[in-house]
Amino acid sequence: MIIAPSVLTADLADLGNACKEAVDAGLDWLHLDIMDGNFVPNLTFGPPVIAKLRKALGDGPIFDAHLMVNNAEESFQQYIDAGCNHISVHVEAVTHLHRLLAAIRNAGATVGVTLNPGTPIEAALEVLSELDLVLIMSVNPGFGGQSFIPTVETKIRRLKQAIDDQVAAGGRPVQIQIDGGVKSHNIAMLRDWGVSNCVVGSGLFNDKASVATNLLEIHNALE
Ligand code: DX5
Ligand code: ZN
Repeated sequence: MIIAPSVLTADLADLGNACKEAVDAGLDWLHLDIMDGNFVPNLTFGPPVIAKLRKALGDGPIFDAHLMVNNAEESFQQYIDAGCNHISVHVEAVTHLHRLLAAIRNAGATVGVTLNPGTPIEAALEVLSELDLVLIMSVNPGFGGQSFIPTVETKIRRLKQAIDDQVAAGGRPVQIQIDGGVKSHNIAMLRDWGVSNCVVGSGLFNDKASVATNLLEIHNALE
């Protein structure tokens, strides 16, 4: 199970150190929540901040960009140039999805699509052969610290079956990533559903304990 920390609920005035804390705890993915104040009702950070993080953290960590933006077709290249290794775009925000996914791959990043909780899984199945990852939102995007929406189970189980069928036919393996309300108390259940990559925000960055201590609790839950 990959744990991809989301720094949204960390002290954003000290973003570099929050990311370092996650890397020092042994996490090699960083999930970067990019919000444009348009597709979602919130704003976070963009390419210049990400480029500085890349410089501060070196080449090691995988920068996983979750683009909650309306203009991914025009802006994805800036995120790759800033040091992102992986780009996930929302199917709800893209008109010509195949074209964009091919452009992201040609630019050298791995490719993902993201589905809001209300979006049917068919939207991802249509492009499954083009993907490295499908990101299933288990909250409506825009804010950290929201409650997990359990009805995503059916969607994830159908996706897992479709990926297994694709791999059995010699096709590309695809990670299932989940984002929103993932904590130590539900992570083992998510693994049983077929999830292989969990975004964890407030479950890692909170007032209760350090990232390392919270991560230990998550690892214990997975044992
Ligand atoms: C929501 C973001 C998530 C979120 C995760 O829009 O995409 O990455 O911040 O935070 P938690 O784990 O607190 O739900
Ligand atoms: Zn996210």
